[in-house]
Amino acid sequence: MKALVLSGGAGTRLRPITHTSAKQLVPVANKPVLFYGLEAIAEAGITEVGIIVGDTAEEIRQAVGDGSALGLKVTYIPQDAPLGLAHAVLIAREFLGDEDFVMYLGDNFIVGGISGLVDQFRADKPDAQILLTRVPNPTAFGVAELGADGKVIGLEEKPQHPKSDLALVGVYLFTPAVHEAVRAIKPSWRGELEITHAIQWLIDEQKDVRSTTIGGYWKDTGNVTDMLEVNRTVLETLEPSIEGSVDEASEIIGRVQIHPTAKITGSRIVGPAIIGPGSTISDSYVGPFTSISENCRIEDAEVEYSIVLRDSSIIGVRRIEASLIGRNVEITPAPRVPAAHRLVIGDYSKVQISK
Ligand code: TTP
Repeated sequence: MKALVLSGGAGTRLRPITHTSAKQLVPVANKPVLFYGLEAIAEAGITEVGIIVGDTAEEIRQAVGDGSALGLKVTYIPQDAPLGLAHAVLIAREFLGDEDFVMYLGDNFIVGGISGLVDQFRADKPDAQILLTRVPNPTAFGVAELGADGKVIGLEEKPQHPKSDLALVGVYLFTPAVHEAVRAIKPSWRGELEITHAIQWLIDEQKDVRSTTIGGYWKDTGNVTDMLEVNRTVLETLEPSIEGSVDEASEIIGRVQIHPTAKITGSRIVGPAIIGPGSTISDSYVGPFTSISENCRIEDAEVEYSIVLRDSSIIGVRRIEASLIGRNVEITPAPRVPAAHRLVIGDYSKVQISK
């Protein structure tokens, strides 16, 4: 069995972060979200992984390499444009050969891994198996309709009148039967080859499409709110370890991980929180559910429930919360008079200023 991991895409919902980097590499508790998926694949006993890459191919290659650090053998499959999840399967035909495979969306996050799901698929041998979870707002998802025997009888993409509250999670198991399906379907109104259409095609061809409903936690980290939420969930399970230098005047409370090369002075850190390599926190407050990655400088500032990417500094500003801050960002106070905001902000940024 092989794995196909989708790490291309446009990432419009995470602009401006995705103007300059891959959304699958945004760190959750200081580890790229993609790595959680790759680890789950390795844990399920799958070693041959094809990674679909788009505009951010180089960055993904640099981060994942040949996969050996994760116990994987990685093949990169370039996709010229984000033409859909089923298009990714179409272009991976040669890599996948005639083997069964798990398709994993590189920006999805599932607690509990996929080993149970893969074992079930291996034992039952249906033509395809999808993963579902109950959601309060099914109109925002691909939604499945199940028959009395639990078989999938229909799928709808973002339905206005959903037939159930079971949303498709970004992990799919396929036999080679899917290859005929992705060749048969036509692009949707948004110009993409939809995987839901390919699965519907299998159902219409009387193929055996089954589902597993997961009770555990799942999130698509495609937008900032979900990204922060996943970060919170992962930080809640953090193994506390304070290895960096913390001076007498500082106070560390709760689940906190401080990298051996990080330095904390005159600050209060309330976990769960993680401080990455080479970062310095001085005269500041870092509140719960915050991930500060490497080489950041937090000085005379307050940050809470946020993700700060590498090489950024927050100096003399309070308080920042529910924020995703990119790489090499500088946040400092404006001169006192006149009271004005001075901004240099990339395209598609979102700034909320407290009055
Ligand atoms: P999506 O989040 O559905 O799409 P997107 O990345 O284009 O994001 P947005 O909606 O914000 O513009 O994609 C799910 C995953 O699949 C994600 O990791 C990107 C990847 N993907 C591909 O690799 N190729 C594709 O053609 C598409 C559509 C997505």
